[in-house]
Amino acid sequence: MDRYEQVIELAKRRGFLWNSFEIYGGTAGFYDYGPLGSTLKRRIEQIWRDTYVIREGYMEIEAPTIGIEEVFIASGHVGGFSDPLCECKNCGEAFRADHLVDKIVACADGLGTRELDMVIKENSISCPECQGELGETYEFNLMFKTNIGPGSGRQGYMRPETAQGMFVDFLRLARFYRDKLPFGATQIGKSYRNEISPRQGVIRLREFTQAEAEIFIDPNDKKHPNFHRFADNVLNLYSDEAQQRGTADQMRLDEAVEKGIIAHEFLAYQIGLTNHFLQRIGIAGDKLRFRQHKKDEMAHYAIDCWDAEIETERFGWVEVVGIADRTDYDLKAHAAVSKTELSIYKEYSEPRMVTRFVVKPDMGKLGPLFKGKAKDVAEALKAMSREELEKDNITVMVGEEALTVPNDIVEFAEETVKCSGENIIPHVIEPSYGIDRIFYSTMEHAFAEEKVAGKEDTEDESRIVMRFRKEVAPVQVAVLPLLTREELITPAKSIEASIRQKGLLVSYDDSGTIGRRYRRNDEIGTPYSVTIDYDTLEDNTVTIRDRDSMKQIRAHADGIADLLYELIYMEKDFKSAGKVL
Ligand code: ATP
Ligand code: GLY
Repeated sequence: MDRYEQVIELAKRRGFLWNSFEIYGGTAGFYDYGPLGSTLKRRIEQIWRDTYVIREGYMEIEAPTIGIEEVFIASGHVGGFSDPLCECKNCGEAFRADHLVDKIVACADGLGTRELDMVIKENSISCPECQGELGETYEFNLMFKTNIGPGSGRQGYMRPETAQGMFVDFLRLARFYRDKLPFGATQIGKSYRNEISPRQGVIRLREFTQAEAEIFIDPNDKKHPNFHRFADNVLNLYSDEAQQRGTADQMRLDEAVEKGIIAHEFLAYQIGLTNHFLQRIGIAGDKLRFRQHKKDEMAHYAIDCWDAEIETERFGWVEVVGIADRTDYDLKAHAAVSKTELSIYKEYSEPRMVTRFVVKPDMGKLGPLFKGKAKDVAEALKAMSREELEKDNITVMVGEEALTVPNDIVEFAEETVKCSGENIIPHVIEPSYGIDRIFYSTMEHAFAEEKVAGKEDTEDESRIVMRFRKEVAPVQVAVLPLLTREELITPAKSIEASIRQKGLLVSYDDSGTIGRRYRRNDEIGTPYSVTIDYDTLEDNTVTIRDRDSMKQIRAHADGIADLLYELIYMEKDFKSAGKVL
């Protein structure tokens, strides 16, 4: 078994994760989270909330997971959210054409369908399943379509990202934040992509959880007031240039900004924050890097984009977070399709004298000439330049129609006026997290197999231990009565209740020998086990066992919940927390 199989085997056996619809044979791209998996996932999401909602102040919203067609026309998903698909003519299996050739060409995801077909043909690539001939490649849109309402209804789509909810709600959010930039909003929720051939377990799902922040900033001020927090962090930065060399640089974030490697401070701050979050939930620092999108790979809306990538044993470096400067692309696109101005009024620190070009169409003359179209003609004239208006006959477009306007019915002039502010379209900085990939990586990085020296005449044995960070572990304390006897069960239950009241995640486990129960808790990553035995009845003390060192201390049962809380959340030293055994 490779590490992926070991992790998934444990995940299934211990109630973390398994394939959906198992009793019907399952279907690729869908996974169920079991009791421990759901808890672990929620812990990761809670720490994400703590990071972005509580500490950064980007409030959470909840938009529908189904979107109307206009939203995804504006976002570009209807037109361009596709992957190249080719099918086997023999067995009918579908494949990502770019994945079939990525061992042969360096940047396969930048190739068009015709180029992909050429590479497939020239290299005689056949179906990986049955070696049959492959059909022509075509673009397959990844959105799940649905109808809203009965009958043919209105076309809708399951959202492929949570981001659009924040863009569509921009005006309401701006009002909520009293029209002051920067501000941000977040969402944690399901996204849907009809991935062509999801063969990588939870790494590529058709229904997955995203946690995204859309942060609206002033396009002329991309500094971050708290950049000093991460400025001296040395990260593995795999810039476009470093990728050409083939090795990532270890570089301070402020140096990367000064050298123009990262576009600006605001983006660099988001990279620092992502690094902080991922390490807080237990991702190994040396298996984490930030890879810049190459010019030909960058999304059409972005001017700089960095992916947080985590190294995994089977899949190599996996993208788990995308951090992009999306500019004003989305707001402009939604403004155009919805015909709603999506801007914010920015007050100057001091009023300024501003010279501007003002066009004054004479409505008294435009009305009789253009009748119902007069208002549109006036609007079109207002958007024209001096050169265009100085022509003898001015041509304006109203819809598809070209109309000629005599120039004597339009006045224009330059005026200097006192201005206290202007309308600007904010730029958007977006960290976009895939929680399922982070969940899997957390499990893989926590997974350890080790030899445990046997005591006296017993043999060495091995144990599997999930070294989850204590605040992430789905069970934080196990309460174990040494024997299933009433006199031990009663105090054990009361200790369990006191730990529960403290808000810690606790499990009560009385089945099997104490050694088996320790091993079981090692496998699910329980940081502390509390054993109640006959000495407890004598002197009211209990044994606390530390998962990682397997050392044990004896501590008083009174105040045990407070003690465990300090061990878990306040970095209290274990050995000084009681009498070392
Ligand atoms: P990939 O290139 O791996 O398909 P992507 O570039 O399409 O990923 P984004 O569109 O940037 O991914 O999505 C943001 C994040 O959402 C990703 O970093 C990833 O963690 C997560 N994500 C995207 N697609 C999936 C999926 N099919 N299954 C699980 N997580 C996903
Ligand atoms: N919101 C970025 C993405 O999902 O692609």
